[in-house]
Amino acid sequence: MRARELYKSLAYLGKTQQNWAFFHLTGQDYGQVFIDNPDFPVDKRLEEIGLLYSQGLPLAYILGEAYFYGRRFEVNEDVLIPRPETEGLVERALELKWDSALDLCTGSGVIAISLALERPSSRIRAVDISPKALEVARTNGKELGAEVVFLLSDLYEEVEGSYELIISNPPYIKRGALESLEVARQEPLLALDGGEEGLDIIERIFDGALTYLKPGGYLLLEIGDDHEEDIIKLTQGFYGKIERDLAGKVRYYIGRKI
Ligand SMILES: C[S@@+](CC[C@H](N)C(=O)[O-])C[C@H]1O[C@@H](n2cnc3c(N)ncnc32)[C@H](O)[C@@H]1O
Repeated sequence: MRARELYKSLAYLGKTQQNWAFFHLTGQDYGQVFIDNPDFPVDKRLEEIGLLYSQGLPLAYILGEAYFYGRRFEVNEDVLIPRPETEGLVERALELKWDSALDLCTGSGVIAISLALERPSSRIRAVDISPKALEVARTNGKELGAEVVFLLSDLYEEVEGSYELIISNPPYIKRGALESLEVARQEPLLALDGGEEGLDIIERIFDGALTYLKPGGYLLLEIGDDHEEDIIKLTQGFYGKIERDLAGKVRYYIGRKI
């Protein structure tokens, strides 16, 4: 396969991603390649990757890695690929004062591990209901040297004690919307499906936070951009606010237990 063919096979990604993907795969800028030699042969491995790509498999799964908050994390098809907007949740958590934190729905562990590495003196627990996701999270914790205790648990079920911060990027997509979403064909449904209104897990997180959060503790959630009004109804027992992400979409709930 020639460079120009590889580039073409990535066209379905859209221009920006196409250029980024080409650069990631070859280490070269296609603009430059186009001027110098668009017919240079790419090696077999890249050809395979290009094929997987053209079939719609996300680059992070093909390469087995994703970057989050400046660090490399292992990912596979058992976990959600971490998203840049979730970094905004970590940023907000680090602006607050807390020494103990519980990350619910940890997936690949990106939130818990980033918090543990940025605030090494803290005590951090993280849970997920998927044993396979937890395997990925534990590997990431070990590789990055983060002191996080990972637990297999349906939300709070196996959790003991109380925390100064509960943080989560839960599944929050409305079930009816999943069918038309590309990500739902690529990433684990368990990571995306938030039930009829997208609020099944979020409601349970709010409920449990009344027990597992210390008085004055913080609840930080990533939420759907259509959830603003629903969330406000769930926040009895908290003072809170909703914030938008860099794209201007409703994305974060930041509450404090009264
Ligand atoms: C949206 S992903 C978030 C992953 C990771 N925190 C991130 O931000 O990239 C949601 C995760 O919630 C987990 N999950 C779904 N239902 C759960 C439950 N009842 N208890 C614990 N974890 C659950 C899924 O397995 C999945 O890993």
